[in-house]
Amino acid sequence: MNQWIEIAEQEFVPVYHRYPVVLERGEGVFLYNIYGKKYLDFGSGIGVCALGYHDMAYTNSLKNQIDKLLHTSNLFYNVPAIQAAKQFNEAANMEKVFFTNSGTEAIEGAIKIAKKYHYDKYNNHFGEIIAMHRSFHGRTMGALSITGKDAYRNPFAPTLPYIKFAEFNDLESVKKQITTNTCAICLETVQGEGGIYPVSKDFIQGIRKLCDEKGILMILDEIQCGMGRSGRMFAYQNFGVTPDIVVSAKALGCGIPVGAIGTRGIASKVFKPGDHGTTYGSNPLAAAAIVAVFEAYQKYDILNHVNKVAIYLDHQLEDLARKKKVIKQIRGLGLMKGIELFDAANHYIEKLQELGIIVIPSGNNVIRLLPPLVIKEEHVDMLIQALKRIL
Ligand SMILES: Cc1ncc(COP(=O)(O)O)c(C=O)c1O
Repeated sequence: MNQWIEIAEQEFVPVYHRYPVVLERGEGVFLYNIYGKKYLDFGSGIGVCALGYHDMAYTNSLKNQIDKLLHTSNLFYNVPAIQAAKQFNEAANMEKVFFTNSGTEAIEGAIKIAKKYHYDKYNNHFGEIIAMHRSFHGRTMGALSITGKDAYRNPFAPTLPYIKFAEFNDLESVKKQITTNTCAICLETVQGEGGIYPVSKDFIQGIRKLCDEKGILMILDEIQCGMGRSGRMFAYQNFGVTPDIVVSAKALGCGIPVGAIGTRGIASKVFKPGDHGTTYGSNPLAAAAIVAVFEAYQKYDILNHVNKVAIYLDHQLEDLARKKKVIKQIRGLGLMKGIELFDAANHYIEKLQELGIIVIPSGNNVIRLLPPLVIKEEHVDMLIQALKRIL
């Protein structure tokens, strides 16, 4: 394993602190390294592998599509993409969708819709977007520009102009940033990289009301918290609101790189032919993955399953927090949980790895739990036992 790691460190651009584990295969909710060491996975590749690993129906759908047709371009139609669009729009309460290759690319498209919406309305380029402090929306220049963390943005300045930041879950702070040029407000329904902070009901409903009153587009980034992780297909469905634009990725493809920009109402009428595009988005293989994901969610009744296991996980974590003084707070929604510690998290994450459990950090002192959505109570017990030992 060390030899592979040495080669990797020589060959890759060094933008990651990787854990010293070379993974080889997965089965169910378990991953195996190249020596066959088994890990219970509570990270799902940062919220991607919602179906776990080697789900037969999902895998066979991909294999069948590979044998039929891999790529067409968007100059032609293909059936998997049409099916995926219909399923996505239904699940998200959207009218029109644009498929992308990643989360950050979907955010770029959402920013473009907001800017063009303003341009069409006022014939100027001064449309302002309000984003949230502590947010994360991706690494490309537009997404970075609305990411509320200075350390990510500053080395790449100047980022996009006309971006303002407000405090998450503080409606007054958002109101203070609104001007006649505000064209969009963008937030994660549950902040992921920022430390697992769910939106409050008052805040998200307040944002919806503000946007309706002032003709502002409401953009929700559900790249990490969407696709069933919250116990609803999209996390905003827990709060009785629907955004004008929803951005999805990660578990939408369960391992095949995809993203989506869902739009409704005025937001779905902004882009005209030539305004946007992609070579690979809506590719038949990527689309077949999306179709297989929606089918698997139905087959496994994923939403009910998530709700049941999440209640169990909540109880176990609350009990743990009562016993372990190092735990500062437990936060989250559904199967997206943060264990905030009074201490740096990485040491504990490495200890868990030694015990055969994968969890991931969020910021410096939060252990982030993003398990495959198919985990069972027995797997929660395994995690809690290990946490009891190492905390
Ligand atoms: C909330 C959120 N938005 C955007 C992104 C960027 O997605 P991607 O890494 O697919 O570009 C991420 C990735 O972690 C995310 O969690």
